[in-house]
Amino acid sequence: MKVLGIETSCDETGIALYDSEHGLLADALFSQVQMHAEYGGVVPELASRDHVQRVLPLIQSVLSSAGLDSSAIDGIAYTAGPGLIGALMVGSCTAQALAYTWGVPALGVHHMEGHLLAPMLEEKPPQFPFVALLVSGGHTQLVEVDGIGDYRLLGESLDDAAGEAFDKAAKMMELDYPGGPRIAAMAQQGAAGRFRFPRPMTDRPGLDFSFSGLKTFTLNTVARHSHDGVCDQQTKADICRAFEEAVVETLVIKCRRALQQTGLKRLVIAGGVSANQRLREGLGAMAHKLGGELFYARPEFCTDNGAMIAYAGCQRLQAGEREALGAKPQPRWPMEQLKPLIVANAGGSSDG
Ligand code: KG4
Ligand code: ZN
Repeated sequence: MKVLGIETSCDETGIALYDSEHGLLADALFSQVQMHAEYGGVVPELASRDHVQRVLPLIQSVLSSAGLDSSAIDGIAYTAGPGLIGALMVGSCTAQALAYTWGVPALGVHHMEGHLLAPMLEEKPPQFPFVALLVSGGHTQLVEVDGIGDYRLLGESLDDAAGEAFDKAAKMMELDYPGGPRIAAMAQQGAAGRFRFPRPMTDRPGLDFSFSGLKTFTLNTVARHSHDGVCDQQTKADICRAFEEAVVETLVIKCRRALQQTGLKRLVIAGGVSANQRLREGLGAMAHKLGGELFYARPEFCTDNGAMIAYAGCQRLQAGEREALGAKPQPRWPMEQLKPLIVANAGGSSDG
């Protein structure tokens, strides 16, 4: 089955073609990052307008790089939520109109399920069950995953998401949007040990997170080390290093707890922040110590992309899921509302 995937939930137009027999055939992405950088964050109205401009040309280019035309497509998967409503509407209208015209089913996919399953696109996909840490710009969640759609929330952020904390901290140091990659790059020049940031909520039991305190701590540290409102580059790098270490160590502590609590050995990280090298190293070492293993997607499939939506949609369409004509996007859509897929072992082992 060949499924076209359309991702337009935020500031990236991602298109891909996934084949249940041959894997990923082609993918393309247009990132609006430059356009939004000027405003220090995503401007929803501009995002929607840009998706309109990009979506069809990108679909055309994905089909042509796969050497296929529309008659080869068996289904269309699109991100139905969560995300920015205007941006989601572009993807859902495009997907539903094309599906109607081509006489194939369309299916709305949950954006975080897409992220969660992105590591299935890699050469060595994780087997179910596993613990997943979802760390994106909008979500920080620990989930026990028994199969596609079979999710049990173990813990989540009570305030800011991890990626959001990176973005806000970066803004305080006048680093461009998105802040995660900027902070990671600056941190490489930073000295270890000059600053120590708190590891929020690690001194009490439980698997929830809180990152808003780190924001205040960053703001105060920047202010204390600024002269005439200016913070020098080395100090910024040292702050970035301490900030990144604090976020990573906090995530490592909670993931260790989640593995111990569930007795599971496999840990999957997904979402934009899972591209972070220090996080991958920290979690990899921790999982190894417990006799377990860490899985993640290639960096371009950690952040928003069409491949993860094509993959997730393909699994569900193959299992026979269908939606009514005119299905609505869902800007708020708790992942626990998803239903388990009714096929035996639909994981990546057979067609990843
Ligand atoms: O998954 P994603 O592309 O979009 C959402 O669904 O939110 O995640 C974007 C988030 C941003 O907050 C960005 O700063 C963060 O992922 N991010 C990173 C890195 N690359 C992206 N954070 C830390 N280190 C990175 N290397
Ligand atoms: Zn995302």
